[in-house]
Amino acid sequence: MGVSFKSRKNQVEIIRWRGNTYVLKTFPRRHHQRARWEYLMLRDLNRLQLKVPPPIKMPTSRQILLGYVPGDNLCDRVSAFADPRYAGQLASWFFHFHSATGNRYTKGDAHLRNFIVHKWTNDIYGVDFEEMHRGNPIHDIGAICASILDTDPMFTSAKQSLCRHLIGQYLSLTDMNTPEPLIDATLLALRATLRRRKRDRGLSHHVANFNLQNLMPAGFF
Ligand SMILES: Nc1ncnc2c1ncn2[C@@H]1O[C@H](COP(=O)(O)OP(=O)(O)O)[C@@H](O)[C@H]1O
Ligand SMILES: [Mg+2]
Repeated sequence: MGVSFKSRKNQVEIIRWRGNTYVLKTFPRRHHQRARWEYLMLRDLNRLQLKVPPPIKMPTSRQILLGYVPGDNLCDRVSAFADPRYAGQLASWFFHFHSATGNRYTKGDAHLRNFIVHKWTNDIYGVDFEEMHRGNPIHDIGAICASILDTDPMFTSAKQSLCRHLIGQYLSLTDMNTPEPLIDATLLALRATLRRRKRDRGLSHHVANFNLQNLMPAGFF
């Protein structure tokens, strides 16, 4: 057994195999079909040159072996310092993902914890594609902004500014001409998080006082 990652749903660990480092993700028996789905999605995304870990093989029907991406989890990075640079990187990662999939797919589980900042190149890699599905790309942007805002410390001005930048950068890359749908999707995702959470930790206050203007990118007032 190697080092295990923090994981809500599956068992994810670093392993050594034939002298190299890999990540082994084991799905619960009842969700074994998700292993194959994630493996196939990763294979396609890898071929489309997206920054995702390369899928190596499926050792069993509920396991996937992936290339290891060395680096820090973006959730830890953003909690330490909400560097505006991450906004541009996330916007461009999502823009590439959405355009490569014909704007018909949503990553799903678009949470900061599912992104890794590569140790040497500083590029952002996306992980966790078991929930990838057909859907409107705006939900990914809403979900990632919600995840920036709802992690402690919540709704800081630096985090709101990060979301403003992310929304602005994503808009500038796409042919969308107004940020409102992305801001609405953020509020929707925050409400969904609130319904799921057992302990509120102050989120309901922020959601009740959500001000659309705070996430409006420069030039859209
Ligand atoms: N290929 C990888 N390289 C490095 N770290 C990874 C890799 N895949 C997953 N991780 C780490 O393990 C965590 C859990 O993996 P993930 O695929 O998100 O599982 P779960 O579906 O259980 O959330 C991720 O948040 C990430 O920090
Ligand atoms: Mg995950």
